[in-house]
Amino acid sequence: MLYQFYQKHIFPHLLNQVMQTPSLMDLRRELLVGVSGEVLEIGFGTGLNLPFYQSVSMVYALEPSNEIFKLGQERIQAAPFLVEHILASAEALPFDNDTIENVVSTWTLCSVPDLVKSLHEIYRVLVPGGTLHVVEHVLNRQNLNVQRLQQLLTPIQKKVADGCHLNRDIELALLVAGFELDEVKYIDAAGIPSIGQRMLLTRARKPA
Ligand SMILES: C[S@@+](CC[C@H](N)C(=O)[O-])C[C@H]1O[C@@H](n2cnc3c(N)ncnc32)[C@H](O)[C@@H]1O
Repeated sequence: MLYQFYQKHIFPHLLNQVMQTPSLMDLRRELLVGVSGEVLEIGFGTGLNLPFYQSVSMVYALEPSNEIFKLGQERIQAAPFLVEHILASAEALPFDNDTIENVVSTWTLCSVPDLVKSLHEIYRVLVPGGTLHVVEHVLNRQNLNVQRLQQLLTPIQKKVADGCHLNRDIELALLVAGFELDEVKYIDAAGIPSIGQRMLLTRARKPA
């Protein structure tokens, strides 16, 4: 009961604040300024990506939490393009095969309960040659001490941060799902604790 209250009424506000950390906003800019056409965002959150789109025609904002989505209303109203809320999960995308040119995931692949199924779904709906634009915090392959902490703390993190895993190797998961990676960049984001600091920025293409 208390946990449900936390999830519905406290966590969305924490999320909205934490996800505005300046180093994360810089990564959003780097990922999104060149994206054009129609976009499907998975785990839309509170709409923090919207100001960075320069030439998109519409955004399908897939977000399973109404409480989180509600906090993005002002950003949605300020957007110079249509934003349509899709109340669904990444594991079951309500789109036909080969129909979407761009999918965006910013810090969502850490949270989806079934990563393999979600990537399979994203791959299915992308047109051949379409791109999944990704920024995610990931398993730190370089630092064994941080990696141990990530493994140890993931069960607690999942409870306090709505299913978020600290220990996912997203690059590997994308390759296993069949994507080709056009750009792969690892960055340690400033102002984020070491267990969540290592970021992957990549563009994962469904082969044409
Ligand atoms: C850490 S937040 C990131 C939000 C947003 N993408 C951003 O960059 O600020 C993770 C988001 O994924 C959403 N989420 C959780 N499970 C999901 C699922 N199965 N499918 C799609 N989104 C999901 C959460 O509701 C939350 O909005």
